[in-house]
Formats: sequence, structure tokens, C-alpha cells
Amino acid sequence: MCGIFAYLNYLTPKSRLEVLDLLVTGLKRLEYRGYDSTGVAIDSPDSKNIVMVKRMGKVKVLEDAIQEHFTGGEYSEPVATHIGIAHTRWATHGEPCERNSHPQRSDEGNGFVVVHNGIITNYNDVKTFLRKRGYEFESETDTEVFAKLVHHLWKTHPTYSFRELVEQAILQLEGAFAVAVKSKHFPGECVAARRSSPLLVGIKTKTRLATDHIPILYGKVLPRSDSTSEFMPLEEKEVEYFFASDASAVIEHTNRVIYLEDDDVAAVRDGTLSIHRLKKSLDDPHAREITTLKMEIQQIMKGNYDYFMQKEIFEQPDSVVNTMRGRVRFDGNAIVLGGIKDYIPEIKRCRRLMLIGCGTSYHSAVATRQLLEELTELPVMVELASDFLDRNTPIFRDDVCFFISQSGETADTLMALRYCKQRGALIMGITNTVGSSICRESHCGVHINAGPEIGVASTKAYTSQFISLVMFALVMSEDRLSLQQRRLEILQALSNLADQIRKVLKLDSKVQELAKDLYQHKSLLIMGRGYNFATCLEGALKVKELTYMHSEGIMAGELKHGPLALVDDSMPVLMIVLRDPVYVKCMNALQQVTSRKGCPIIICEEGDEETKAFSSRSLEIPRTVDCLQGILTVIPMQLLSYHIAVLRGCDVDCPRNLAKSVTVE
Ligand code: G6P
Repeated sequence: MCGIFAYLNYLTPKSRLEVLDLLVTGLKRLEYRGYDSTGVAIDSPDSKNIVMVKRMGKVKVLEDAIQEHFTGGEYSEPVATHIGIAHTRWATHGEPCERNSHPQRSDEGNGFVVVHNGIITNYNDVKTFLRKRGYEFESETDTEVFAKLVHHLWKTHPTYSFRELVEQAILQLEGAFAVAVKSKHFPGECVAARRSSPLLVGIKTKTRLATDHIPILYGKVLPRSDSTSEFMPLEEKEVEYFFASDASAVIEHTNRVIYLEDDDVAAVRDGTLSIHRLKKSLDDPHAREITTLKMEIQQIMKGNYDYFMQKEIFEQPDSVVNTMRGRVRFDGNAIVLGGIKDYIPEIKRCRRLMLIGCGTSYHSAVATRQLLEELTELPVMVELASDFLDRNTPIFRDDVCFFISQSGETADTLMALRYCKQRGALIMGITNTVGSSICRESHCGVHINAGPEIGVASTKAYTSQFISLVMFALVMSEDRLSLQQRRLEILQALSNLADQIRKVLKLDSKVQELAKDLYQHKSLLIMGRGYNFATCLEGALKVKELTYMHSEGIMAGELKHGPLALVDDSMPVLMIVLRDPVYVKCMNALQQVTSRKGCPIIICEEGDEETKAFSSRSLEIPRTVDCLQGILTVIPMQLLSYHIAVLRGCDVDCPRNLAKSVTVE
């Protein structure tokens, strides 16, 4: 939800045009977080003012505007030290338009400019307070109150440092947010802060940093003259800093980053970074560690594919192997999940498992629930995070709660995590993003290791979440004699999975042909049951997200209780009918559809002529163990939604109104 990117070069000369280029590239990497409007702020050529360019639409529109706007030769002059901030927005307060785009400013003179992610919940109260003091507001955003509040504090506390002003402002604000602030009154300085929205600082120096830690400084706001000692200089003089919502925006510059924690305020002055906290609690560390990112730049490039989503679909033979790498030993039939192994005895004693997530992540819980029930012999509840919170669901100390999230930042999931943690449950994170909030706030967890996922519609993260939960079920049943045969069957199937996915991906051109039949329709019903019900939900979500067509995932057992009324000779229907324990029931549903003149597309097993005979259009997938079928059946659905979206001219990687990381409730 909104992407923040800021770049500060200290004694490393760069022209403003180069800075703008860096800012735009950073925004492009963060565009998946929101793409309805964008903006940048840099210094004017005389360095006395701040210049902003803001545009409605995607980063490309901003890039073109920048090319038109900054034509003068003075923008090519190198400047030794400079700070630029940039933003890509997913609107929450106020429609997408230039006025509501970030940076938001404190006053007509652009004294303080702010980029912000998240929501300031008490912005109305702060607005009333500021209005009474003569401030006029030009946007409908909550962000603008932040810029104006900092300005008000600057006027009333002339001795405060830039960091202290931002700290004081944050103390007055409620909600979940991350901000980066630039000021013409504090040239060459940048202050950034987070509370519940992600933010990291990338550090680039010519030689390796002399330290792996940045000390944290605690304490009250001090007058500017007393606070200089708090800056702990790195040994390097020339340095570049990158503030970003996500590591993918900094990896092409540096792999050395600090993930900020809630209520951290990071400030750069005289080229030196300090991290400050107003309050110290007992378990607070003394320093923030500089971590080395393992991500490679190629992982966030499209390569030969037209879209990130397409690339991510085709990466699945590798991503599923990466999820299992170092964890599953096929020769010894052993599974070790390092992030949870110490907790297994406690988990085995629990009262129930609760699986909580949103969107696609929720579907991975639906997909694996049956196997978890079978192999853990525990009650398993599957919950949508938002609904779970609405219901104030009772949670007990002997519950084990799983929080499934690709980004690890989804606000609803994170709130549900905190709710369960407060009530004493064991918290397990299943995420794809190392260092994310869900990761850090969990007691234990499994990284799904699918690699960066950029396309807004989730694909490879789903199959990796699925496998992570299957691996967990296998770990839980390791010492159950009666389940050994079943475990072996699943392990055997996991070892063949990558090849079978490759086979399914070969259906691509056939799926494209089907998409040509479907793309002009208004609706698509997707039916199945048992292990494939989750594929129906996930398939329908993919179709909705990408193509803006109506689509519904229908439990085939429910067909006769309502959805059958939708079926006629013109309603597009897709049915999943595999040779598993619910085959006969699925065939009944298939017959109910065909006898209403429905002509479904069938996903069936390779060589199943009997089932295929019910339709002229079918997709055959390889046979695997029942509980893993969902991994193979979801891939044709991913491909189908992708091709329909392309045929309908939709923006595959950035569907309208959506964002990949939803950090607002
Ligand atoms: C957003 C995305 C979905 C995603 C959901 C949960 O709505 O558009 O694709 O499934 O959030 O995201 P998470 O990062 O928690 O898996």
C-alpha cells in the first residue's frame, strides 16, 4: 500500500537528473504497492527551495513529466550532497489526483515535504488543531496534516533538530504509517520513521562498513545544541542512503540494509545515520543490525517474459523446489523445518490449529486444511483475517495460530497476529518476506522461499505456501506409525512435483485457445470439491483480479443448493474432476451441469477418457497424490486468468484498484 523511496547522497556527487533517475527506478520497483499516482521532490538548482513533480497514473507518466520538466542544464550539474524523496500511491484518503499525490507539503514555500504509507487515524483532530492555528489544507489526504504539524512544531520550537521535530509530530499521531521527510530548512538531512508500516534503510559505501550495527539512541527530545553527540559516525565519509518500503527497491544499489522497527526514527545528518527511539523498554536491543540481503537483482527483473506474473507462473517448477530445499530429504524420508523444530513438542500438545490470512494466502490454508486435519489429528480452523477480527474470535493459550502472508505486511493479518499474541497463543508466521513485520512478530515460522513476487496477483507464493503447510503436516506426523504409508506417498509425490508442474505449463497454448473462447464473456463459474475446492476459489480470485470479469469458485456439493440456477447453454463453466475420493460426487455435479445444457471445460487426469467424454474442451494434468492435486490444478487457472487479461487489454501486473501489499485495515 503505497511505496516510499528516498535517496540521500553525501559527498558522492550526483546531478539532480541522476537523482531523479534513481528515484524513478526505485518507484518502478515499488509500483506493485500502489499505482494510482506518483510524485518526487528534489532541491531546486540553487538548493534554496524544493521542487516537486506529481502526476496521476503510473510511474511511467511521472517519468515522462520529469523529462519535460527538468530540461535546464543546471539540473545536470553534480551536487555533492542531496536528498530526494519519491512516492507511488494507492489512495486511501482522497481520490487519486495530483493534489492528493505525495509528497504533501507544509506550506506554499515547501518548507517540509512528506511521503507517507499507511493511515493516520486521528488526522481529523490534528487538522482541527492546525486549522485553529491558521493552517489551510489543500488536499484530502491524512498525510498533509503530518507535513503541517512538523511545520507548526518548527515554528513553535525553533531549537529542535529536524529529527526531534519529526519525533514530536509522531508522538501526536495515531495509526499505522511510515514516513520520509525532507526540508528546505534542514538541507542534506532526511528523517524517516515507521509505526506498523514497513521501512528499511539501505547503506552504500565504497568499502565495507566499519560496523555491522547502528546504535540505538533513547531518550527525551533535547535541544539541538545538546544532541550532537547522539550521532555515531560510521568510518566512511562518502555514503549513500536509500529509504524504501521494500528491499526490491534498493537491491540494485546495495545489499546492506537495516529494517526499521516500530517507532524507530532514522535520521541522517552530516552523512551520518542515527536511529532513535523515544522510549526504552526492557527487551529493546542496543543496536539495529545491518543485514546482508540475499536477493539478486535478476530476481526482480522480468527477463524474457512480457509480465512479472507470467514469469512468476513459469518459475514454479523452481520455486517449489526452493521451498523444499534443505528441508526435505527424499532419500531418508525426513523433513526438518528449522524455524519451528524447537516448538514441535509444544505444537503437538495444542488444542487446535488456526490458519489465518487474506486473499490468496487464505486460499492456501483452505487448500491444506484437510491434510492438516488428517496428519495432525487436531481441529483446524481456517479464517479470513478481517472476519476473524470482526468476530473477536475466542483464542486460548493452547492455540497455535498460523499467519500466512506473502508480503508479511498485510495489515489485517498483522492485526490478527497481535490479537492472538496478546491472548497467549503460539504464533507461527508463514511468509515470503524475510524481515517483514509478520516474520519479526512471530514466535517461530517458515519462510516459503518462493523468491520475490512482483505481479500483484499472487501465483508462485500460493504454491509455495501450499507446500510449506504440507511440509508442516508431514513433520507433525513423523512419529505416527499408522500414517507412515500416507507420508511416503506424499513425499514421493513431492519429489515428482517440479517435473509435473513443467508438464502442466506445457498446456499454455491450449489454455490460451480456451481464453479466446472466454474473454468476451461476462462471467466464469469454477466448480470442484474436496482437495480442489481451494483451486476454485483461487482460480476465481485470479480471474476477478486480473480480468475484471465476474467469477465464482463454487463448491460442487453446493451446486444443487443455488448455483445450478445460473447454468444454461451460454454460461461459461469450468469443472475440476479428478480421480480422487470425491470423483463420483464430482461426476454427479458434472452431469447436473451437462443436463442443463451447460458445456463445461473440464480439468481432468491425463488419459481419463471417460471423464473427458463429457466435454469437447478439457485440460489434462498429470496424476499425483490427492492432497497435492491442488498445486497442479491451480496452474491452468493462473494461465487462464493471465491470457484472458491479456486478451481484454488489462494491465496484468498492476490490476486496477489493487495493490500487492495491503498495509491498511
Ligand atoms: C492483496 C493482494 C493479494 C494477496 C493479499 C494477501 O489483496 O492483492 O494478491 O493475496 O493481499 O497478501 P499477503 O501478502 O498477506 O499474502
